[in-house]
Formats: sequence, C-alpha cells, structure tokens
Amino acid sequence: ALISLRQLLDHAAEHSYGMPAFNVNNMEQVLAIMNAAKKVDAPVILQASRGARGYAGDIMIKHMILAVAEMYPDIPVCMHQDHGNSAATCLSAISANFTSVMMDGSLEEDAKTPASYEYNVDVSRKVAEMAHMVGVSVEGELGCLGSLETGSGEKEDGHGFEGKLDREALLTDPEQAADFVARTKVDALAVAIGTSHGAYKFTRKPTGDILAMDTVRKIHERLPDTHLVMHGSSAVPQDLQDLINAHGGAMPQTYGVPVEEVVEGIKYGVRKVNIDTDCRMAITGTIRKVFQEKPAEFDPRKYLKPAMDAMQKVCEDRYEAFGAAGMA
Ligand code: G3H
Ligand code: 13P
Ligand code: NA
Ligand code: ZN
Repeated sequence: ALISLRQLLDHAAEHSYGMPAFNVNNMEQVLAIMNAAKKVDAPVILQASRGARGYAGDIMIKHMILAVAEMYPDIPVCMHQDHGNSAATCLSAISANFTSVMMDGSLEEDAKTPASYEYNVDVSRKVAEMAHMVGVSVEGELGCLGSLETGSGEKEDGHGFEGKLDREALLTDPEQAADFVARTKVDALAVAIGTSHGAYKFTRKPTGDILAMDTVRKIHERLPDTHLVMHGSSAVPQDLQDLINAHGGAMPQTYGVPVEEVVEGIKYGVRKVNIDTDCRMAITGTIRKVFQEKPAEFDPRKYLKPAMDAMQKVCEDRYEAFGAAGMA
C-alpha cells in the first residue's frame, strides 16, 4: 500500500529504527528494493531525483509506483521526490503519484546569508502547506552538504562553492533548525553534518572531525520530535570498490559513511537515510564482472539479473543494520 513519509517515519520513531531511502531510475532498481523488503519484511522508501524522472519519464515512474502497489500489496511504500528544487517540481511529483516530496530550498543558498535562509523558509512553508492538503509529506533541508576535509560545499550541479567554507558554514545550526521546522512545518529535516553525495566523501575512514555525528545529537536535543534525514549516506563498501576495480574499473580509493555511524545517528533521531551510490556500485561491479567473465554473452538479462541480486543484497544489509527488518 502507498503511504506518506510522515506515516512511515512516525512508525520508525515509535519503534526506534531508521529507514533507508534508496534511489530508483528503472525497473531493476525498483525490483531489487522491493524483493529485499519482501525478504526481510521491511517497509520501503523509493526516491526519484529530477534526473531519474527525466531518465524514465514521469508516466513511466507513475505507473511503476502503481505496479509496485499492485505487486506487493502487503508492503507499505512511500514514493519520494529526492531534492526537489522548486514548488513546481514538487507539485508535478504529486501529480505523478508521489506520496512525499523534498523541497530542497538549500539548493539556492549561495552562502549562509539571511536572504537565502528566508527564501528556504518561504518556499518550504509554501510547499508544505500545499502538500499537506493532499496528504503528501515534505522533507526540507537546512545547511550545506559538503566536505569538512576540503571545506568545499556542494551545489545541486555537483560543483563546489567558490572558496573554502569553514566548519560552521558546513554544519546545520541547531537553533536555526528549530526555527526552520517551527516556521515551515516540514515532516522531516535533512541536516548537513559533513557528508556529500557520490563515492568520494572522505579520504580516510571518517572520525568526528570530518563526520559531525555530534551535530546530529545537538539537533536532536533541540528538536526531539523531528525526524532527521541523512543525505550522502552510502558506505562506499571496500568490497564493491574492489569488485569494480578487479573487473576493469578504475575507482580511486575512497571512504564513505560507515554503517555503524548511521546506526549511531538512529539513536539520535535519524529516521531516513539516503543511499544511491552503494546501489550503483553493486550494479556496476556485477555487470563489469559478467562482461569480463562471459564476453560472448549478449542477453541483457544475463547481467541485469545478477546486478539486481547484488543490489538486493545491499538493500537487505541496510534494512537489517538500521533495524527496519520485521517492521513492515
Ligand atoms: O541526490 C543525489 C542522488 O544520488 C541522485 O543522483 O541526480 O544523479 O539522479 P542523480
Ligand atoms: P549517496 O551518494 O551517499 O548514496 O547519497 C544519496 C543521496 O543523498 C540522495 O539524496
Ligand atoms: Na543543502
Ligand atoms: Zn541527497
């Protein structure tokens, strides 16, 4: 059954677990997640970026959501717009059967200026007002994702800000978070704690100086009833880096967010954990392996099925680690 993000995260808070939110672009990714959820008896958050909607097309996305509801009637599913950049993006997602939208008003921030903060409040409040009228949930974001190692903030297009940002500018401020949630009425809040999107998050296994889990604790102390969201939360597992590189890939050594750090965050109000990169790596590593081992093969099912299975395994692992298994 399709349900809103609010319903799902309220349940997660009540039972102290975290929900992985996996990105989807195609049927294979959708099936990998749904089969994982079915196997471990977990609820589901599927999320589509603007890029995903452009790739598959809104009509295809809309009918994939309907297909999922019909194929898995016993699994609660939330369909979420990842990083909506405007009210128009959020409204068109709602028209395409999404039950939750992220209004990322932080994308427009060019600095931590009062003007950009007021823009974020205004647009997030407006989207929340509209979405709530039709039972759709809203995730907001406050702060700038980016690296505490390099001081580079992340923009929507993946390019950094000009110049170096200090630690304070890269972390969500707990007081401002309280003001933001009170004024916008968002159902969940994405926070900036030193994570960034993609595979290249850290040059070493992160410690507190570059992954600010203490900021999560401070925000949770100030906002104990708000569902927190961690973006850029792929673990970038060593075995998947090795799988890719053993079969013709060339990924430089890198480090992600250790699963145990996410588990720590779940003790302090983190309820939604965004994961795309790990799933991409499982798919790519597996396809590379089949291509290298069976160069005469040309039936797409011969590599897409193992790729799906590898992604399913990643999803099952996260469901188990975050305590969402058995919660459907
Ligand atoms: O926000 C980032 C997600 O990993 C989605 O990435 O915009 O390339 O689809 P994308
Ligand atoms: P990763 O790149 O770490 O998987 O993060 C995904 C994400 O935050 C999507 O919004
Ligand atoms: Na941001
Ligand atoms: Zn994100």
